[in-house]
Amino acid sequence: MQEISMDVESLYKDHLSQVQHRYEKALASCGCSGVLIPSGTLKYGFLDDHPYPFKVNPHFKTWLPIDDNDDSFILMRAGEKPLLLFNQRQDYWHKPASDPDGFWVAQWEIQAIRSLSDASNRIGDPGSLAFIGEETGLARDWGIAQINPQNLLSEIHYHRAYKTDYEIACLQIANNIAVSGHRVAEEAFRMGCSEFEIQHRYLAAIAHREKETPYSGIVALNEHGAILHYQYYEKQAPATIYSLLIDAGANKNGYAADITRTYAVGNGLFQDLIDAVNTQQLAIIDEIRPGLNYADLNEKMHLRLAGVLRDFKIVNMNEESMVESNLTFTFFPHGLGHLLGLQTHDVAGLQKSADGDEKAAPEKYPALRLTRTVENRQVFTIEPGLYFIPMLLNRLRQSTHARQVNWQLIEELIPCGGIRIEDNIAMLDDGPVNLTRNAFDAQLT
Ligand code: GLY
Ligand code: MN
Ligand code: MN
Repeated sequence: MQEISMDVESLYKDHLSQVQHRYEKALASCGCSGVLIPSGTLKYGFLDDHPYPFKVNPHFKTWLPIDDNDDSFILMRAGEKPLLLFNQRQDYWHKPASDPDGFWVAQWEIQAIRSLSDASNRIGDPGSLAFIGEETGLARDWGIAQINPQNLLSEIHYHRAYKTDYEIACLQIANNIAVSGHRVAEEAFRMGCSEFEIQHRYLAAIAHREKETPYSGIVALNEHGAILHYQYYEKQAPATIYSLLIDAGANKNGYAADITRTYAVGNGLFQDLIDAVNTQQLAIIDEIRPGLNYADLNEKMHLRLAGVLRDFKIVNMNEESMVESNLTFTFFPHGLGHLLGLQTHDVAGLQKSADGDEKAAPEKYPALRLTRTVENRQVFTIEPGLYFIPMLLNRLRQSTHARQVNWQLIEELIPCGGIRIEDNIAMLDDGPVNLTRNAFDAQLT
């Protein structure tokens, strides 16, 4: 198994120079010699003076690990040291940001700004700049030549799938942090805690505020596990607890972990099903090689899950017919996974090339977010599931295949919701490296 360095401090310099090279090269496509990237502006609730949680522009955090400072700007001019215009607005209602500190600052020229007009006075000739950000009105007012040019974005997004060593280190550390929370969440589940309590113990264990997590954690007891993006945290535990599906991540320097585990109370049918999905998840990860297409892996996963449905006598059909007739979709209606990095569902999963051409998801599997070929340095999730979703089961009940289904067993399983097992995989020279299992294994000892 390939060792992953977690020395982000010494890996950052090389990361930054690769990022700068990537942007410089892409700028040629829009005839610009520099790029201005805002961190983003705070947004306020309607008729309210409280802002929504700040979410940084992912292009901004590609360059440096700041995700909590609005109205800052990165200005990169080709061939020059990048400049950070760092917002230190003076304001007695809020604490101004502290001076930047840490392993990355030596690589930057940093200037404090107090206002947007401070920033506009420092950007030089706007006619030679591209702008990447949401604040397009501001960019127009400042006379910037190219605003979110599609060629530039396509090229950068495409290459973002290939992670630097620094990024892989951040993703491994994000996994380590998330796994420490998953362990505490499992304990809380076994103690009979509510969804709300499990969520808060998870957040405390990973030392994140909710808004620091890369996505809202899914903490689903019992039949809630069948709701793919279940969004509530019930404060009362159910009278009888059967299962927990927890899909929860963590953030390291702006990089996301995205991990799901499913647990059963005691041994029995549902635990056996979890074990079977786990075995098939590990088996498909073992098959991953550069050159394979991710959509084919998704199809192979459907065949494997069909095997589970047959072995457990949930469906009495052979695997091929189950996949061909799309019966497996009832039990696994989302894709096998997605690219992972600065965003949980990272960009360009459907992009065929840096030009922006796309390979759409197969008609049969419209939710598949990744149709690229597996290549070295990609990081993605592998997250098969097997769910008992009443809405989809009702459709199956009306179909010609209803007679092949063991409805008694299904009724027994519906209260357990569903199973998802999600790991984060880095495709490296010696094969797929499972960042999530690395973390669980390391924390066992
Ligand atoms: N946490 C969302 C997902 O797994 O894609
Ligand atoms: Mn995921
Ligand atoms: Mn997830």
